[in-house]
Amino acid sequence: MKKTLMSALAIGVTLIATSPAVLAVDPEKDRQNFVEFFKAKSPNIAFEDYKDGGYVYSADKRAQWEAVEEFPPYLDSIDAGQALYEKDKAVYEKCFGKDPSNVRQHYPYFDEKTKQVVTLEWAINLCRTEAGLEPFKYKKGDIANLSAYFGYQSRGEKVAVKIESDAAREAYNKGRDLFIKPVGQLGLSCAKCHAYNAGRYARADLLSPALGHTTHFPVFRAKWQELGTLHRRYGGCHQNMRAEPFKAQSEEYRNLEFFQAYTSNGLEINAPGYRQ
Ligand code: HEC
Repeated sequence: MKKTLMSALAIGVTLIATSPAVLAVDPEKDRQNFVEFFKAKSPNIAFEDYKDGGYVYSADKRAQWEAVEEFPPYLDSIDAGQALYEKDKAVYEKCFGKDPSNVRQHYPYFDEKTKQVVTLEWAINLCRTEAGLEPFKYKKGDIANLSAYFGYQSRGEKVAVKIESDAAREAYNKGRDLFIKPVGQLGLSCAKCHAYNAGRYARADLLSPALGHTTHFPVFRAKWQELGTLHRRYGGCHQNMRAEPFKAQSEEYRNLEFFQAYTSNGLEINAPGYRQ
């Protein structure tokens, strides 16, 4: 209990301390604090289980979810993703190499040349436009299917995001700020729901832990009845917070993904996933 409180305070305190000076937080120490925070909150949950999102908190919901995952509704989407891949295979091979199971685990990464976070979806569209193909829309449909195909090929690989420069640290800190600072008419932060209150219910919804948030995206949501990307979800949560969402693949959401993926380092990729 004491540890939980101290770690919680650590997150809160560094928030205030780091806002003006973005380089003040050391990402690796920050990541360890983050993992520690969840460990102190739920000592019986094994680190590797955080890839399963909110289902770590409820045996009942986990059992229902595991039943759905036996014949998951996203299988057609993976096939559709594979068909897209095959259709423009030469283009994708030029950008991503010849092995589609060696792609997803390298994203997101910080591109030291352009000083930008490159997510998988962003890279797919860069690749397409450079080859003279139309870019995909970012929240659902083709982009989600192709991303699901790459994710599925990389199941079992681990999240391994690197931060090796001040510019990359700055991107991490910007993503972190977006996660921690209260925004919108309700004065909520991502951390409030997905760190401090993770495992509790918000109406009928069991709040998932932020640790592991990126491992299983894109996700087939029962509510959407289709696959959607991580940034579609970010937009939905910002809307629920009565805050103005950023665009999918905006610099803000790419930085947020960078922060979320870095803090999930070491967890297995298990994309795509099914969620209620
Ligand atoms: C008022 C509480 C609340 C806030 C604040 C909130 N969310 Fe959520 N979020 C939810 C609920 C409820 C769900 C659906 C249940 C779940 O998976 O947590 C959800 C789901 C998610 C998911 C999908 C998790 C999964 O495993 O499929 C992600 C990712 C996410 N939120 C990220 C964020 C981010 C980033 C922010 C800040 C921009 C944020 N959320 C703010 C309530 C919130």
